[in-house]
Amino acid sequence: MFENISWGKRNRLYQIVNSRDDRCLMLAIDHGYFMGPTHGMEIPRDDTALLMPHIDSLMLSPGILSSSIDPAMRGIGWVLRATGGNSILDADIDNEGLILQAEEAVRLNASGVAVSIYIGAEHQHKSLMNLAHMINSASTLNLPVLAVTAVGKRMSDKREKRYLSLASRIAAEYGADIVKTYFCDGFEEVVKKCPVPVVVAGGAKMDTYQDVLDLTYHAIQAGAIGVDMGRNIWQSEYPAAILQGVKAIIHKNADLKEALELVKGLQNDENKRRMLFETSEAEIKASSIH
Ligand code: 5RP
Repeated sequence: MFENISWGKRNRLYQIVNSRDDRCLMLAIDHGYFMGPTHGMEIPRDDTALLMPHIDSLMLSPGILSSSIDPAMRGIGWVLRATGGNSILDADIDNEGLILQAEEAVRLNASGVAVSIYIGAEHQHKSLMNLAHMINSASTLNLPVLAVTAVGKRMSDKREKRYLSLASRIAAEYGADIVKTYFCDGFEEVVKKCPVPVVVAGGAKMDTYQDVLDLTYHAIQAGAIGVDMGRNIWQSEYPAAILQGVKAIIHKNADLKEALELVKGLQNDENKRRMLFETSEAEIKASSIH
């Protein structure tokens, strides 16, 4: 994978994607950039501790990398969120600018940067210019760019084949190295029409582990190289258990039954999420809008 890409960028891409099988288990914890201390990820240093040994890469905001991640940590790729400028208190979040420059990302030893685009939203043009600008500056530094086909609040019903295919292809046309999008019916078509590797987001927390494994399994079957998943891991009761189930599907070609058995067997005290804070229904609802 990633043939005909310069050595430096390829090396960084293989900090994000596992070179043993060209698959990717990326854990997304960047939600705080507009959601604040989202439940399940209130204390990133602690909430990621049991998860780090199982992932290929971590998607996070620059300030969480520098404040909460041990610089001595090895073997994990860092994908830094590079767009922002809003919060969940705004009417929507698509009016984004670049909050991180490629040079600063390299100074932080990032493996890549993530830029959201909001196709069809009010600020579509600005978000596409963010992507273009980042691709141009990142390419001079051999820094990979992950494009995120975000929908925001107003476009949240757009998680379907035609829309996701449009958004993913536009991201690839601009020069994104990897596209992150949502899973949908007919996802195979989205992947086929996108000439660069695709990873899927998990989206808002689903009801059961079976749902999470199902999404992962079918995304891989449809041609995704992996996931960039957040809330369905760290908002669950046993984050390290469900993460290992997802990992088994991505890296060990486990089927649904095998993965579910594995998750069941790992639901023990050691893997249980420590609930240090009370979480209101309103907070839970707020964290599931996007
Ligand atoms: C926010 C993001 C998130 O990283 C993305 O949505 C993945 O997390 P989740 O699996 O919780 O949806 O890009 O814009």
